[in-house]
Amino acid sequence: MKLELKGRIAFVTGASRGIGAAIARALAAEGVSLALFGRDVARCKKLAGDLSKRHPALRTVVVQLDLEKPATIKASVTKAAKALGGCDILINCAGGAYRGRLEEIPDEKWESFFSVKPLGLIRVTRECLPYLRKSTQARIINIAGTRGREPATFSVMAAPINLGTLAVTKAMANELGPQGITVNAVNPGSTDTGRWTELVNMTARDRSISTKEAEKYLNREVPMGRVVQAEDVADLCVFLASSRAGMISGVAVNVDGGRTRSI
Ligand SMILES: NC(=O)c1ccc[n+]([C@@H]2O[C@H](COP(=O)([O-])OP(=O)(O)OC[C@H]3O[C@@H](n4cnc5c(N)ncnc54)[C@H](OP(=O)(O)O)[C@@H]3O)[C@@H](O)[C@H]2O)c1
Repeated sequence: MKLELKGRIAFVTGASRGIGAAIARALAAEGVSLALFGRDVARCKKLAGDLSKRHPALRTVVVQLDLEKPATIKASVTKAAKALGGCDILINCAGGAYRGRLEEIPDEKWESFFSVKPLGLIRVTRECLPYLRKSTQARIINIAGTRGREPATFSVMAAPINLGTLAVTKAMANELGPQGITVNAVNPGSTDTGRWTELVNMTARDRSISTKEAEKYLNREVPMGRVVQAEDVADLCVFLASSRAGMISGVAVNVDGGRTRSI
């Protein structure tokens, strides 16, 4: 299948680690120029260095971005667009959700996490629109999460953050489709990043079992029998970013090994 991504320009937020870094690696393998956004510039620079070694012709720029500082977002996006000459693909991956039960999560955490996703995602997208409108193959991919559709233990915050992201995705798809921009969401299930270790530890504590048993318990919940890898999520993003996905817009696709029970 020809993905026709070579020479395209992608902005990836949350590129410093986890799923965002995996998406950057997968796009780099397709010859996509990359703006790597993160708060942790050192990690983004390390990723850029590794990618350049692997793909010597690759163009990358590292841009500091803290979505909790909205006043700085425009300058960060402008810097990336100037360095690479535009933006064809925006991957909104930064964020997460504080895990815990309702009474364990203080207001500051709610405000801080919501300011990154979905609010920060909206702000970044707004700044990228002038560039995306000039692209002949414009794509926005929002990384949401299955807990937006199916809340579970410890996901009282993940549920509204990801449901909000899904709603915003659909509304953006309606609004931006006539401007030639597709907008989709990808819903990872529990994925093997730093957040997985956190979930394993919390499950072990909650059920008074060992972390090994907690891992087994969590994997048993997944029909495919294993935790999602960041690369599983990245592969779908590459496809949605490609020329092959021009008529896919306004959808949310789970990458969860079948764990979500609802239809
Ligand atoms: N892992 C899972 O099980 C799972 C499941 C469902 C959905 N998701 C979603 O997938 C996305 C990536 O998750 P992950 O597991 O890869 O998480 P992760 O390893 O914790 O990485 C989070 C990323 O978000 C960035 N970020 C956090 N706060 C930020 C802020 N204020 N400003 C700018 N960037 C910020 C981090 O940047 P710095 O490192 O530079 O701070 C980091 O690159 C998130 O949106 C998450 O909600 C993950």
